[in-house]
Amino acid sequence: MRNFNRFNGTALASMLLLAGCGSDGPPQFNDPDVRAEALLAKMTQSEKIQLVHGAGLGASPLRGAGYIPGIDRLGIPSIDIADSSTGINIEDTGATAFPSPLALAATWDPTVAHDYGSRIGAELKALGFAEGLGGAIALSRDPRNGVANENMGEDPVLVGLMGAQRTIGTQSQNVIATLKQYALYDQQTNRFGLNVIADERTIRELYLLPFEIAVKEADPGNIMCSYNMVNGLQTCQSPYLFSVLKNEWKFKGITQSDWVGGVTNTIEAANAGLDEEMPGAQNDYDNTPGFTSFFNQKLTAEISSGTVTQARLDDMVKRKLRTLYRIGLMDAPPKSGGVIDTNAGNALAQKVAERGIVLLKNSSSKSAATLPLKTAGLRSIVVIGGHADVGVMSGGGSGGAPAQAGNPVACLTPGAVQSNPPFFSLCATFYKSSPLEAMRKNAPGVTITYLDGSDILSAANAAAAADVAVVFATQFGTEGVDLPSLSLPNNVTDPANQAYDQNALISAVAAKNAKTVVVIQSNSAVTMPWIDEVSSVVAAWYPGVQGGTAIANVLFGLVNPSGKLPVTFPKRDQDMPQPAISSSATSVNFVEGLNMGYRWYDAKNIAPLFPFGHGLSYTTFSFFSATAKVESDVVKVSVSLKNTGTVQGAQVAQVYATLPASAAAPPQRLVAWQKVDLAPGESKVLVMTVPKARFAIWDTANGAWRIPSGNFSLSVGGSSRDPSATKTSIHL
Ligand code: BGC
Repeated sequence: MRNFNRFNGTALASMLLLAGCGSDGPPQFNDPDVRAEALLAKMTQSEKIQLVHGAGLGASPLRGAGYIPGIDRLGIPSIDIADSSTGINIEDTGATAFPSPLALAATWDPTVAHDYGSRIGAELKALGFAEGLGGAIALSRDPRNGVANENMGEDPVLVGLMGAQRTIGTQSQNVIATLKQYALYDQQTNRFGLNVIADERTIRELYLLPFEIAVKEADPGNIMCSYNMVNGLQTCQSPYLFSVLKNEWKFKGITQSDWVGGVTNTIEAANAGLDEEMPGAQNDYDNTPGFTSFFNQKLTAEISSGTVTQARLDDMVKRKLRTLYRIGLMDAPPKSGGVIDTNAGNALAQKVAERGIVLLKNSSSKSAATLPLKTAGLRSIVVIGGHADVGVMSGGGSGGAPAQAGNPVACLTPGAVQSNPPFFSLCATFYKSSPLEAMRKNAPGVTITYLDGSDILSAANAAAAADVAVVFATQFGTEGVDLPSLSLPNNVTDPANQAYDQNALISAVAAKNAKTVVVIQSNSAVTMPWIDEVSSVVAAWYPGVQGGTAIANVLFGLVNPSGKLPVTFPKRDQDMPQPAISSSATSVNFVEGLNMGYRWYDAKNIAPLFPFGHGLSYTTFSFFSATAKVESDVVKVSVSLKNTGTVQGAQVAQVYATLPASAAAPPQRLVAWQKVDLAPGESKVLVMTVPKARFAIWDTANGAWRIPSGNFSLSVGGSSRDPSATKTSIHL
């Protein structure tokens, strides 16, 4: 049995142990811990140091974000690392541009999350990368965060479980997955060293929980710490954060610094528990400002003088070796030159987009359901704005999707860069997947015209003359800069990408056509001052390289929308706990505490524009007969769900728990969900097994999770505010 790479090391070790023998040696031979210890004993000090820092920005032979050269004499492969949040973010590699991770979260489909991670893993492997920096699971406290599109929403259980599946998928391809950014990394403004202040219960129950879930469920190779501080300490130098990770959750992988400025002090970082500095440098004492490094000569010197122990360095290296063994990279080193399966990538990109598009609204006082568009009897559609004639938008920065050759949309202020390093472009990338062309393909007998939206009067006149008007709106989000507001950007707030006032355009069109449909491609939530004026609204997020086709398929009912919001859409910026992001503050206090995301709107009785978990369908569903029973470590919640309409569709049964008053918890929390596809008239009994841990609160005084005793009411419905949800309760 030589081909160990086909199995993950732990699984194989347990198989051998179960069998009680192994043809290659004693049962523990393939145990990654044992193998790592044995190899560590053979290493020189300089070889060890070589493995705990990157070789500098630009060092990657494969044009990746980071690179750790291997050690030939010991068979340790080089680790080439790529950003891969939304696909491998390197131009002209042929990598698939997937829908944004927020779109993935909107699928509420763990199988799709697994496939997303697995396909990106397969592409990383084909190109020769050992590691992908793809798993952004920081909670979205503020939807204006420029990387909200790269994260997976505001609920810790949704984000944790979807992030875990994505990670399992990637690592199944023998590629190390990085989960990031640990922790409380929620805005781009002043992100380097921004001091985030939060109480421990909030930190545990919200911001650390996705990491706790994903570490325990998926055993990620890497956890990347963030640029900000938490309660006065840089996260990459925080003994508290690393101790929770390594001592409490038993994380055995590598802690990795974020790229620019996460580390400021060798002794503090090493002794707190940082295992790898990125991007590192060849020489710690010859630094470009802003890219200072600490884990090469400086770490060597600190170990010689005893301020950092040899045992700490050995632990860093052992974690690296163990991870390389466990993921299969020691036995099958990465090889470049493989072939990317474009068809498989595109098919999955389309599936994610189609499962994640959310139908927010579908009728108004002036119009019955406009969608799906029925071609019979339909003569004309006018499509307006958003560059829908040529493509769909992508997010920017390191988590953006790989650029194709030739952006189909010219930037209005070419060369525009943001002031905050590392200088990401403010110009949006578009993918050549034209919604207009896809709509024409779906409706060959209908006259579909296009106007770019810059002339509002012409757009309104064209809308008046058409049977249906479909307005495309876009909002660009990128690393390094936050959005000034949730309002759809205009030519003043986003001069690089918007030529006109999108809100004014939508209102003008809606005034002339009762069947106005708005399709939004956005960073996260947006506000909609025109909501009562339009018939239908579709949230398409950043829909990826097949986005145009996916949108057109939803508009014409070839796909029945089934996405659900992974974030609350507020009515106004002022309704959020943090009404504005200060451009000058060097600290941010998470004053709302546990009341973050939907918990805030519930606790404050503020009606959102669209609640967390919301999403309509072209069919209707009914929930009934919820029951729950407590077993030893779990609660089994069952509910009947029926498709009461006339077309096939998928619904997400969402279980929210209200804790006993003594818990002093927000009004409700998501504890479980299940997405199911149902034929017209079909019913299913769903049984969800919920770990008791989902009902726990953090007991700060005792430093432990505790399940409050008393009655928990459970509500099972199609959103966090579904009036037809069915209820039950348990006693714990
Ligand atoms: C980002 C990370 C990214 C890294 C490498 C950093 O600026 O915060 O998300 O993985 O750069 O490109």
